[in-house]
Amino acid sequence: MNQALSFDDLVALDAAHVMQTYGRAPVAFVRGDGTRLWDADGREYLDFLAGLAVVGLGHAHPEVAAAIAEQARTLVHVSNLYYNEVQPQLAARLDSLLGGGGRVFFSNSGAEANECAIKLARRHGQANGGPERFHVLSAYGSFHGRTLTTLAATGQPQKQEVFQPLPAGFRQVPFDDIAALAAAMDERVCAVLLEVVQGEGGVQPASADYLRAVRALCDDREALLVVDEVQTGLGRTGRWFAFEHAGVAPDVVTMAKALGNGVPIGACWARAEVASAFKPGDHATTFGGQPLAARAALAVLEVMQRENVPARAERAGARLTRSLGRLPGVDAVRGVGLLLAAELAAGHEAPKVASACLEAGLVLNAVTPTALRLAPPLLVSDDEIDAAVGILGRVLAGEGA
Ligand SMILES: Cc1ncc(COP(=O)(O)O)c(C=O)c1O
Repeated sequence: MNQALSFDDLVALDAAHVMQTYGRAPVAFVRGDGTRLWDADGREYLDFLAGLAVVGLGHAHPEVAAAIAEQARTLVHVSNLYYNEVQPQLAARLDSLLGGGGRVFFSNSGAEANECAIKLARRHGQANGGPERFHVLSAYGSFHGRTLTTLAATGQPQKQEVFQPLPAGFRQVPFDDIAALAAAMDERVCAVLLEVVQGEGGVQPASADYLRAVRALCDDREALLVVDEVQTGLGRTGRWFAFEHAGVAPDVVTMAKALGNGVPIGACWARAEVASAFKPGDHATTFGGQPLAARAALAVLEVMQRENVPARAERAGARLTRSLGRLPGVDAVRGVGLLLAAELAAGHEAPKVASACLEAGLVLNAVTPTALRLAPPLLVSDDEIDAAVGILGRVLAGEGA
């Protein structure tokens, strides 16, 4: 690694050699510890985005780092042509968090976890309802990934437009609207795919009544309820999984972001009867569930369970919600646990506020033109919450209008 690279040289190197698909903020982070990040000049930042809700246990968590290092020295990868000792242990632990009686397929990202869920739902639907039962209903405002199939399920037409034609069999309905869903539910539908809290769509929670009604509708029409917990899963909302708030039992659950605390890993869990629709050879990935990523995830779950991280996220989320709600310049706070959006008062533009916060040492992002997303590490301390809200308050007082 070239330590002497100036920031300007780094940007030029990126422009010359990296596909320019991202609009990046003007900073390069070089080190992290817990909720803190440092740039190359040694400037310290409070990280209230956690790498897009990924680093649940904070940066450089010592137990996760030690597990990764030990596994790296032992065995990183063998492919899924062979057993590895870690993968089934991780599957068993995830299954127990989901109530047991399920099976897990491991992938490398959230999109791939959803891809697996969609393929499984089609297999299950066609096996039980005939060749026409392959349609998936999802919601406007949703985000399920950037592969062509998960993009087809993503209810954001502007992201889909330039990639037409997308795979067939995907339709979107208004979010949190049971009548609209019921009207779209015909015998071709094999699954309803939903986020419990739409993350990229602006941190929009579904109501518990809606989720319970969706469950009943899926039962009635013999469709699977697939819950995308890629952003909400593993403690972020104050429960292991966000669907627990509504007391519903999904047939399929996907997750990724927080599972490896930054090491790429995704997972698709399904009830055993549903999972059995996949036959050997139906689905595969070279890296999924490899020893290195699985060992990182196992360490993450060990720490999360021991430290009761979901409960800590719920407490911290309540404090952050209260403090944000008191800030002049914040009109409303929405979200669950530590997946929050602060809707700004008229006169403030969220992208500008996010940039000013970054300059002032606070990392967060504009999830809509008028709202900021806050998703800090789940072990964030009260002092860190107070410091972050202090920075945001000063930025809002000096900026906008
Ligand atoms: C709810 C949800 N599903 C799926 C994805 C896609 O995950 P990935 O970017 O790991 O492919 C995301 C990413 O933000 C997400 O928030």
